[in-house]
Amino acid sequence: MALPSTGLSAFARLLAQSPAHCCKRRTLFGLNVKINKAGGAWKQRCCSYSILLSRASVCCSTQKGNMSVSHQNSQSKIDGKKSMCPNSTRSTHTGIPGDDFLFRQLLEYKSYTYTYLLADTHSMEAILIDPVIDTVDRDVRLVKDLGLKLIAAANTHVHADHITGTGELKKRVPGCLSYIAEVSGAQADVKVKEHDIIKFGRFQLEARSTPGHTDGCMTYVWHEKGMVFTGDALLIRGCGRTDFQQGSASTLYDSVHQKILSLPEHYCVFPAHDYTGQTMSTVGEEKQFNPRLSKPKSEFVEIMTKLNLPYPKQIDVALPANLVCGVFDVPTGPAV
Ligand SMILES: [Fe+2]
Repeated sequence: MALPSTGLSAFARLLAQSPAHCCKRRTLFGLNVKINKAGGAWKQRCCSYSILLSRASVCCSTQKGNMSVSHQNSQSKIDGKKSMCPNSTRSTHTGIPGDDFLFRQLLEYKSYTYTYLLADTHSMEAILIDPVIDTVDRDVRLVKDLGLKLIAAANTHVHADHITGTGELKKRVPGCLSYIAEVSGAQADVKVKEHDIIKFGRFQLEARSTPGHTDGCMTYVWHEKGMVFTGDALLIRGCGRTDFQQGSASTLYDSVHQKILSLPEHYCVFPAHDYTGQTMSTVGEEKQFNPRLSKPKSEFVEIMTKLNLPYPKQIDVALPANLVCGVFDVPTGPAV
């Protein structure tokens, strides 16, 4: 897998300039990075770095103000400042996406479902939000490739359009626990309630109950990174339907306004689906541009009542399966 030279140059410059580049693991420009000191050369202001990107391997070293970069069999010289290697051993910087955490948005393209992989790149503990049974192979491989420890698989609700991958993940990944809202009535290792916390490494998600699409809809908020995973409660310029699965337009309107659109406007919105090719929005954007939820409540309820959507194709298969973790014979409790 070839890295673009511009990305590699920028990566090298950032490593050289960053006062916190001596941490063990970081991510930069979406790369999962493992940084190692190079033995005695450390004292001579010379560091080596190994970058892990799936099966590709990149090595960088700094010496006497220049940074030479080797990528597989090719080498190139990149200008860089002299590496100073401070005493700090951990990065505390959280401003750059990917700096101390990993975030992947993954698509299941039959139901247009987004699965989210979040991880702390120090402890390597990871969580999957809304995994799909059809893409469990991909997700397990990615977790393995990146050296992550998957400790949780959380559903935002009992889905009607696909079968959750939670049960399969529990089978294949020892120690992975399933999460879903207690109100949903579905089986899971952990039944989540309002304001419950799901921890992974140094990070945590806050669960916010957002019923209306279903009774058991949960929105997960990653306050440290300004991200909110809204399931079907809030979609990009839309929202989940409210005409089945205990749906209520009035309830959904209150949930979204009180629990999601009340967050700071810069928070990034990551929904469970998008059917138009968009990947994210923000709280501020949706407050201003959502054609349904920016309206007064009475108008929203009228819009939702008149949608006249077709009966979901997968609902008769998906609902019973999702009430039992996606697989009928998966026991609850950690896999061993
Ligand atoms: Fe849904």
